[in-house]
Amino acid sequence: MAFDEGLLGQEAILSLFEAARWAASASNGQPWRFVWSQRDGSELHKRLVACLKPGNDVWAPKAPLLILTVTRTTRERDGAPHPWALYDLGLAMGNLTAQASSMGLLVHNMAGFFPEKAKELFSLPADHEPVTMVAVGRLGDPEGLPEKLRARELAERTRKPLSEIFLGQSP
Ligand SMILES: Cc1cc2nc3c(=O)[nH]c(=O)nc-3n(C[C@H](O)[C@H](O)[C@H](O)COP(=O)(O)O)c2cc1C
Repeated sequence: MAFDEGLLGQEAILSLFEAARWAASASNGQPWRFVWSQRDGSELHKRLVACLKPGNDVWAPKAPLLILTVTRTTRERDGAPHPWALYDLGLAMGNLTAQASSMGLLVHNMAGFFPEKAKELFSLPADHEPVTMVAVGRLGDPEGLPEKLRARELAERTRKPLSEIFLGQSP
């Protein structure tokens, strides 16, 4: 997607993570973790960019903010497997997305990255799983995108109807 070049500023970024931080989680375990960088030419930003898969590496490096989302897969209190760790991280990212939206920012999630590389580059502990990478910023001009990406950006957005997502006896 096409992002505006302008950086977001530390205060804006921290308010995104503040919203994420307040998500509900199973037993208040708060398993979400984040690696993030502004597009500032830093070593950290370069490492994040190095984790993107081809395709995403065309547009996502231009975003003012790149995030690697991570979840702790074991419970802090006893080290047992944490079956809801992904759900909890998703709720945190939902909060971040709502906050971003209220600030006029767009959030683009990506599964297209190399988790093993991310684990290595950021020295993640064995029970910390990279889940997505996320690009955040203001909408830019899609004219700057390669043809295929521009068509996708300008295409009508679609979703399944409610009747397809209800199971059981739902009306
Ligand atoms: C978990 C997840 C992974 C995604 N991975 C990618 C990705 O690697 N690259 C990409 O361009 N978009 C990715 N997307 C964006 C989806 O393709 C997009 O949200 C979906 O097609 C619906 O489009 P819309 O949100 O613009 O309506 C991902 C979205 C989610 C939630």
